[in-house]
Amino acid sequence: MNYQSGFGNEFASEAIAGALPVGCNSPQRVAHGLYAELISGTAFTAPRHVNRRTWVYRRQPSAVMGEYTAYTGHNAHKFWLTPDTSSCPAQAPNPLRWQPFELASASTDFVDGIRTVAMNGSAAMQAGMAIHVYAFNKNMGHGKKGRALVNSDGEMLIVPQIGELRITTELGVMDVRPCEIAVIPRGMAFKVDGKNECRGYICENYGAHFRLPELGPIGSNGLANARDFLTPSAALDESDGEFEIIKKFAGHVWHGTAVRSPFNVAAWHGNLVPYKYDTAHFMTIGSISFDHPDPSIFTVLTSPSDTAGVANCDFVIFPPRWMVAEDTFRPPWYHRNVMSEFMGLVHGQYDAKPDGFKPGGASLHNSFVPHGPDIEAFTKASNATLSPHKLDNTLAFMLESRYVLQPTEYAMTSDKLDKNYFNCWKGL
Ligand SMILES: [Fe+2]
Repeated sequence: MNYQSGFGNEFASEAIAGALPVGCNSPQRVAHGLYAELISGTAFTAPRHVNRRTWVYRRQPSAVMGEYTAYTGHNAHKFWLTPDTSSCPAQAPNPLRWQPFELASASTDFVDGIRTVAMNGSAAMQAGMAIHVYAFNKNMGHGKKGRALVNSDGEMLIVPQIGELRITTELGVMDVRPCEIAVIPRGMAFKVDGKNECRGYICENYGAHFRLPELGPIGSNGLANARDFLTPSAALDESDGEFEIIKKFAGHVWHGTAVRSPFNVAAWHGNLVPYKYDTAHFMTIGSISFDHPDPSIFTVLTSPSDTAGVANCDFVIFPPRWMVAEDTFRPPWYHRNVMSEFMGLVHGQYDAKPDGFKPGGASLHNSFVPHGPDIEAFTKASNATLSPHKLDNTLAFMLESRYVLQPTEYAMTSDKLDKNYFNCWKGL
């Protein structure tokens, strides 16, 4: 794989020499008989620092396409949901936790392997998100039987938990393994293949594009550094077979037939791009005196809302790190926050729940739902000798939102729902 590095750059790449116009975007005739096509990820008039668009030069415009009709694939009406309060059961303000979600049982690809767990906001109003889990064991294919996905509703942040992914996009190909993450822009065609069993999490972000958080007094370096984000290079798919395009649009899933592979881009330039990031490169900030700091120091990416400092969605990780604070209860404190918190675990143990929170599982603590370390973690941390300690071999993450997350019927009727979760604080 040949990647370009940086975040929000003006990238440029060509798979065929001379395919990229020089000094202009739309010449009268593009080299090699290619067609120029613009993909705007923001309004034309969005301020320059948030404006995102990419020019692609392709064998055929994306408009060459059959009619879209409702997708009637696997479990079509339940597998992938978009916020609509009528589709979610009323939710008591309880802490929620799920054991690891099931792996794919039948032959299932990435699209059919998506299950919506929780959601908020509105795709139509471009606010909020949906949180899904995926499990698949079959590739999306190419040539005559290939399938590709285009999500017009939201950007897709993919967090693999089991299985290395090969993500093919209009702009090129990325390999993404557990402990890495990938983001696919809204409206860009892609497909996800894997080796053997794959499972993971998805944040479908309806709000502003994910961006790097401000660093404030941390300075000009630290947390996720821009240079560690990798964007693919152009990779032209020259195959001639038809493709089934699955399109998520206005809360529903549609499909249609494209005459050729949507990955027929010979060259591109722009800043609306897919990217991946290895969480091992995250420079973690923490307390070197006393007290457990607010978890906002672990923010990798943020999708801001229209209120300064209040996120539509923050993507936060809890990576391996040293714990050195003196006279301090080192795990997270007990708390209840206005922001709603969904957590997942890629591998290892989470320090506040060493036993009950498993890789591939999840927890949801909605607005002002009290939570914190279970009795085991509390007892251990209250009596620990406070020598420097490396919290190692672990990666938990959190999706935090200003909007209350509605768990879906799938999540609330799943046999993975931990009915005894609240007992973990009994005895305190
Ligand atoms: Fe929390």
